[in-house]
Amino acid sequence: MQNLLSTSELTKELVMELMESADSYYDLANCKGSSNELEGKILAALFYEPSTRTRLSTETAMLRLGGRVITAVGEEYSSLRKGESLKDTAKVISNYADVVAIRHKQAGSAKEFAEGASVPVINCGDGPADHPTQALLEAYQLYRTFGKLDGLTIAYIGDLKNSRTSNALLKLLSNFGGKAKLLSPPSLKLVEESKYEGIEYQECETIEEALSGVDAIYSSRVRVEYFDDQSEYERLKAYFVLTRELLETNCPDAALLHALPRIDEIPEEVDDWKGAKYFEALAGGVAVRMALLKKLLCS
Ligand code: NCD
Repeated sequence: MQNLLSTSELTKELVMELMESADSYYDLANCKGSSNELEGKILAALFYEPSTRTRLSTETAMLRLGGRVITAVGEEYSSLRKGESLKDTAKVISNYADVVAIRHKQAGSAKEFAEGASVPVINCGDGPADHPTQALLEAYQLYRTFGKLDGLTIAYIGDLKNSRTSNALLKLLSNFGGKAKLLSPPSLKLVEESKYEGIEYQECETIEEALSGVDAIYSSRVRVEYFDDQSEYERLKAYFVLTRELLETNCPDAALLHALPRIDEIPEEVDDWKGAKYFEALAGGVAVRMALLKKLLCS
């Protein structure tokens, strides 16, 4: 494995290998331990779009494996703002780091960067297009919860048009069959190109319909950054709210995932519901990124 640029590179075998490897790192990630497996290696974390979890958990993964990290945050502080191409930036940074994690607002940016790079590149979100490591994080939480990824029924609820995270999880799980129940405001429906073969789809009209009979729910915020009209965003941002009552009534045994940040779509009262897994998933996110860094740097 040379890079991780797109979720479509994550074959079933590779996902299972990374899940098993993440299992071997989970305790270390969860108990905040450290090892020296990547001692002497440097990760460049280039986050040209806002990030809290993805940047810090990728950096944490590198540090827990004994590696070191250099970081660039915000396009406005980089030479991209002066007009440098992503490819040239990649040529430069390949002289400093052994591996690069990049987030950038443009779809296809990680691929463009990798064309100039001579070290492995990890796509940590390329605009609306893809977010493969988030899909790995969610898959790992599902794997820990259900002991498998095959044949799960998942309700995808929220802004499915602009959500790179829902899109990426659908793509990853298309290797494993199962069913996707879709619920979004009419203007934010999943686009046809994101309906991957291998999954059965059901469009839902109500929250109750979407929640019934699911193993898990994947909720996404309405992505404010893709709205020109602020009042339209305000109208849609709390269109579907997953209250505790709705969850307890319609899917008492389901797992609830969310990439975070959540805005209005999951109220705080849900956080201590037994199915709420979005904070629990964060330690697994470090473990799965440790597994990925190890795979990219040592095989
Ligand atoms: C997601 C992202 O950046 O796409 N967050 C994340 O990586 N944890 C989801 C989001 O911002 O809504």
